[in-house]
Amino acid sequence: MIDGHGRTIDYVRLSVTDRCNLRCTYCMAEDMVFLPRRDLLDFEEIELLARHLVRRGVRRIRLTGGEPLVRKGVLDLVARLGCLLGDGLEELTLTTNGTLLAEMSGQLHAAGVRRINVSLDTLDRQRFAQLTRRDELGRVLQGIDAARDAGIAIRINAVAIRGVNDDELPDLLAWCADRGMDLGLIEGMPLGDVALDRQAAHLPLSEVRTQLEKRFTLVPSLHRTAGPARYYDVADTGTRVGFITPLSDNFCSACNRIRIAATGTVYGCLGHDQKVELRDIIRAGGETELDAALDRLLAGKPLRHDFNAERSEPALSRHMSVTGG
Ligand code: 5AD
Ligand code: SF4
Repeated sequence: MIDGHGRTIDYVRLSVTDRCNLRCTYCMAEDMVFLPRRDLLDFEEIELLARHLVRRGVRRIRLTGGEPLVRKGVLDLVARLGCLLGDGLEELTLTTNGTLLAEMSGQLHAAGVRRINVSLDTLDRQRFAQLTRRDELGRVLQGIDAARDAGIAIRINAVAIRGVNDDELPDLLAWCADRGMDLGLIEGMPLGDVALDRQAAHLPLSEVRTQLEKRFTLVPSLHRTAGPARYYDVADTGTRVGFITPLSDNFCSACNRIRIAATGTVYGCLGHDQKVELRDIIRAGGETELDAALDRLLAGKPLRHDFNAERSEPALSRHMSVTGG
């Protein structure tokens, strides 16, 4: 699949639910209204769509949410999608908050998942409870251990938030390195109404890098994953730190992805409303119509998002949890 700007699209982020068992203040409002369950694609429909996308050249699928592991029966879906591995699909992965990994890691590994991202913004229990509005740090840490024991490689993702975890990021890097895990740092994006003052919380990652360099030797690395992170080798530890800078250093020119909401709405970009609706097309069973809709999406896929750190109002009313974080 090639988009209207000549970019090859071989990566799909698939949100399996917009629901979550946490309420991170930069992501959600406390009283989020979620999509009605009856509007979600069922597992047969997701599998059919995934097979179709793999036939069209998609090589990596990442399950996201919301929290993908809260969707009822999700391990059944992961197992179905795992069957596509080696058959065109090269990687099946997920982004999770880690709260359910203690129970699910074994089955995720058995389904073919070898690498996951776990979101963890702080190692301080009280801070975690404030930031996520739930006192679940202990379960997340257990989940991380369980996934590592099961043989799944982990990258920890942390959103850098001024006044919340900015003083803690060097410690977080050291903690990850002790466990042989890479760390991905992310600038918060203005998606959806939340209680957090995003303008005040904005922290350019160049500042964080300067902070980290007081304690670690960072060497620019050629390492790339399917995502937009720019990596540095942490010479002292043998691990890596990645910087994802949607606000301070736009990386859209290399975009390789589309995003599918749990309802079957496909978005060309996290920061735009450009989309096609696939649910009814999938239900009607027309392969030609499915291709035509995907082609329409690709042709209109925006060149870049237009996030602006100087503005406090959201760039878009749609929360990250709908589009697939
Ligand atoms: N900006 C940046 N990252 C976000 N996440 C959720 N909302 C936002 C936002 N507005 C992150 C989570 C997680 C991943 C799914 O997306 O912390 O790492
Ligand atoms: Fe849930 Fe992730 Fe959003 Fe936090 S950032 S509320 S864990 S979806």
